[in-house]
Amino acid sequence: MLVRIEPQDVEIGMFVHAFEGSWFDHPFWRRYFRIETQEQLDRIRNSAIDGLLIDDQLGIGPRAALQATEPERSPDPRRKRVARGRFWGEAMAPRTRTRFASAQKDGDVPRSRRSYAIECRRAKQLVDRTRGAVTDMFEAARLGRAVEVKHMVRLASLIGASIERDAKALINLVRLKEKDEYTYLHSVAVCALMINFARHLELDPQEVEDMGVAGLLHDVGKVAVSDDILNKPGGLSKGEMRSVREHPGAGHRLLENSPGTPALALELCLRHHEKIDGSGYPGGLKGEELSLAARMGAICDVYDAVTSNRPYKAAWTPCEALTEMRKWEGHFDPALLDRFADSLGIYASGTLVRLSTGELGIVIGSAGEAGEDVVVRAFFDCNTLAEIDPVDRAIAPSAEYPRIIGRDSPTFWRFADWDVLRHRVLAANILPDAESDSH
Ligand SMILES: [Fe+2]
Repeated sequence: MLVRIEPQDVEIGMFVHAFEGSWFDHPFWRRYFRIETQEQLDRIRNSAIDGLLIDDQLGIGPRAALQATEPERSPDPRRKRVARGRFWGEAMAPRTRTRFASAQKDGDVPRSRRSYAIECRRAKQLVDRTRGAVTDMFEAARLGRAVEVKHMVRLASLIGASIERDAKALINLVRLKEKDEYTYLHSVAVCALMINFARHLELDPQEVEDMGVAGLLHDVGKVAVSDDILNKPGGLSKGEMRSVREHPGAGHRLLENSPGTPALALELCLRHHEKIDGSGYPGGLKGEELSLAARMGAICDVYDAVTSNRPYKAAWTPCEALTEMRKWEGHFDPALLDRFADSLGIYASGTLVRLSTGELGIVIGSAGEAGEDVVVRAFFDCNTLAEIDPVDRAIAPSAEYPRIIGRDSPTFWRFADWDVLRHRVLAANILPDAESDSH
């Protein structure tokens, strides 16, 4: 049920459905999300909005918040966190459990999954619509004609709207591309990833849109490289490599002559193959010399490439991709790579995460046919501050329960020797996860 509340009455755990008042006063670009951090809470309470609608089926309601926010006397941040863990574990989780159990009994589908399915259908229609426009854009570039940038702006805007409704729908759809549609779907995928990433970083709405346009246009210079080279299995000769390395410059020259190209798109086109240690191309820029757009683009471009089936390599799952990309020292901005993972709600193997069950766990890999489920080994109860017998929980995409709340810090929980504890948990004999199996 939707409930209207005042900004000062919001609490962590509430699910925001809509903000009231002028759009310009909104503290967040997105509309639908669960309030999970103190920073989000402060931004809403300090904003100029008149009120907001919360959905008490997807988060806590005003009364539950009242009970859960009894005055805390201890200044110890660890105790505060425990109280919040209790709140997730005892107030919200049983309610969602009950809701899911009854939904399954009735043969019904939980609302979040139904809206995800609806957005998947809309995303499919949108991708079909983009096919012609992006293919035409590449064809015009092949003939040396200027790019019709206004068409790309329109597409980026539609893709942004889909991301706002449900980011996972479009992003999951374009990741599963056939080999012969890689060129245009890679552009759409990088556009969607850039928009989602930029929104997660809470960039200005105009920057978010420009990042999307930049994603659509970033590889336009590939029209200067032969398909034989682009699709060649195995290694490239020096001459072929030289040809590939010319595509950022070729694309940049083309976009410079295309009226209306956003500056961010020019920047991303030229710099998306630069690396943080200076070993990339074409400029060999490093560290702070690289703009935010260049660092974001490098991550989105590689992530989509390695999670797609290519003529020379099978796709990695999102979890595998993040795990491998974190090992490529000097390639990406490591802090930004973590933010990217957060933007998608995926985590590299070995990451400590908090679950909606009120537990801490370690991500141990992917599972499931679609390769989208993530397996988390829960080992610590945040309510009792005690270790539990390790249990593997399969976290399905877009499931309401159990779900990953976010990454957590071993330092915060004062684990004496995190490396030793992690090793012990990962080496443990595992009990069957009866709880997750029931969902
Ligand atoms: Fe490229």
